[in-house]
Amino acid sequence: MHLQIVLAVVVMALLGPSSPQNLPNCESSCGNVSIPFPFGSYGCNYSRSFLVTCDRSSGMPIPFLGKSESNLVIQSISTSTGEMELLTYVANDCYNSSGARIERKQPSSRFGNFRISTKNRFVAIGCDTHAYISGKRGNETIGSGCITVCDSKNNMSDGSCSGVGCCEISIPKGMRSFNMSLSSYSNHRNITDFNPCSYAFVIQEGKYTFSSKNLLDFESQEQMPMLVDWSIGNEPCDIAIKDTDNFLCKGDSECDQSYTGSGYRCRCLPGYEGNPYIANNCTNIDECARPGHRCLHDCVDRPGNYTCSCPKGFSGDGRENGTGCTANESLIIKISIIAVAVT
Ligand SMILES: *[C@@H]1O[C@H](CO)[C@@H](O)[C@H](O)[C@H]1NC(C)=O
Ligand SMILES: *[C@@H]1O[C@H](CO)[C@@H](O)[C@H](O)[C@H]1NC(C)=O
Ligand SMILES: *[C@@H]1O[C@H](CO)[C@@H](O)[C@H](O)[C@H]1NC(C)=O
Ligand SMILES: *[C@@H]1O[C@H](CO)[C@@H](O)[C@H](O)[C@H]1NC(C)=O
Ligand SMILES: *[C@@H]1O[C@H](CO)[C@@H](O)[C@H](O)[C@H]1NC(C)=O
Ligand SMILES: *[C@@H]1O[C@H](CO)[C@@H](O)[C@H](O)[C@H]1NC(C)=O
Ligand SMILES: *[C@@H]1O[C@H](CO)[C@@H](O)[C@H](O)[C@H]1NC(C)=O
Ligand SMILES: *[C@@H]1O[C@H](CO)[C@@H](O)[C@H](O)[C@H]1NC(C)=O
Ligand SMILES: *[C@@H]1O[C@H](CO)[C@@H](O)[C@H](O)[C@H]1NC(C)=O
Ligand SMILES: *[C@@H]1O[C@H](CO)[C@@H](O)[C@H](O)[C@H]1NC(C)=O
Ligand SMILES: *[C@@H]1O[C@H](CO)[C@@H](O)[C@H](O)[C@H]1NC(C)=O
Repeated sequence: MHLQIVLAVVVMALLGPSSPQNLPNCESSCGNVSIPFPFGSYGCNYSRSFLVTCDRSSGMPIPFLGKSESNLVIQSISTSTGEMELLTYVANDCYNSSGARIERKQPSSRFGNFRISTKNRFVAIGCDTHAYISGKRGNETIGSGCITVCDSKNNMSDGSCSGVGCCEISIPKGMRSFNMSLSSYSNHRNITDFNPCSYAFVIQEGKYTFSSKNLLDFESQEQMPMLVDWSIGNEPCDIAIKDTDNFLCKGDSECDQSYTGSGYRCRCLPGYEGNPYIANNCTNIDECARPGHRCLHDCVDRPGNYTCSCPKGFSGDGRENGTGCTANESLIIKISIIAVAVT
């Protein structure tokens, strides 16, 4: 009993001041979404930007980026790509047949220190539709948009968002927030039978396929998936690394020099896997235990790597694409001698 307490004290002393990811009560997931450090609930997050709130009030756990009021529902977080998939709301602007506006939603989203990936598109659907997206890039406000006007849903090509019934634009680089707004030229007059509403949303490229049916019925699609790029802080690798206490790429993790956005990203050394943002979490991959290694004979795992070896009496690098394994001359001679002796 005493020994256990002493051991516990020693272990805690060895671990030193506990960094958030070591706290035992940090949830590693919310519903079926895993929440890897630097993300975490209050007290487990690396900084303000990485707060995740797991909301259980509806009975089903829902992970929100930031506080639940953000309305940003996390779908997945990747520590290897530095991307996060989020659901954001669809904007709408609806009219009845007399041309009176009956509903309008103009959602806005803010991503703190993160940026909207350029892998998204801004898409608008409608036949009397002026769609506008604006947002912050650094301290400037930028905006862009598209227009689609039509007076029938005939001759509309399903599957392509080509400017009639549906229009789309790419997202400017570096945006940290967006506001969407929709307006119409003649309140959808004369078209409400097939298109009473305009809709607009930000969505990961390739995840939406236009169908002329959506002009009439798009109610079910309240939220759409988009990608957000995340990184640590605002300084690049060479500056961030000087702040040794806070720098996260430790152990067999290195700062990702190929990342050129703001802040820095970590990645495990080649041949290692794990969460590169947790100290000592990158561990050696046993290549030999996986299919795909290129050894002809024996495979020997090494830190970050593996080597191949040849059977006794053979030499070479043992690699399929290398020098392979060739019989030693002495062995050939021996075999020949045996062969001669046998015959
Ligand atoms: C778990 O993920 C699947 C697909 O990724 C999704 O359809 C399902 O609704 C999720 N379940 C919960 C409880 O979030
Ligand atoms: C975690 O997020 C909260 C809310 O934004 C913030 O108050 C807190 O300082 C963050 N934790 C750390 C360690 O920065
Ligand atoms: C459209 O809405 C306006 C205002 O709510 C209402 O006065 C009008 O009767 C409505 N028209 C139809 C056809 O429902
Ligand atoms: C977005 O909308 C919010 C209010 O909803 C407003 O405070 C903010 O200034 C708007 N931002 C831009 C870039 O239009
Ligand atoms: C932000 O504004 C300040 C002062 O108005 C300016 O000096 C700075 O260059 C701006 N930064 C960016 C990124 O636009
Ligand atoms: C579709 O377009 C063709 C020519 O582009 C036209 O002849 C035809 O009338 C159109 N159909 C309808 C239903 O508008
Ligand atoms: C709607 O149709 C009526 C009758 O065909 C026409 O007079 C009016 O200009 C049309 N309105 C719009 C906005 O196209
Ligand atoms: C790496 O982190 C994950 C998630 O916190 C944990 O489950 C795992 O045991 C860690 N692995 C190592 C080698 O520390
Ligand atoms: C293993 O490491 C050696 C020396 O660093 C390198 O030449 C070789 O390409 C590496 N092999 C693999 C499979 O990574
Ligand atoms: C085969 O030859 C290699 C050098 O070519 C040598 O290192 C190795 O010991 C030899 N093996 C045997 C079994 O003779
Ligand atoms: C090794 O050889 C295989 C075919 O045996 C080939 O598909 C593969 O690209 C080669 N790999 C390298 C690194 O040359």
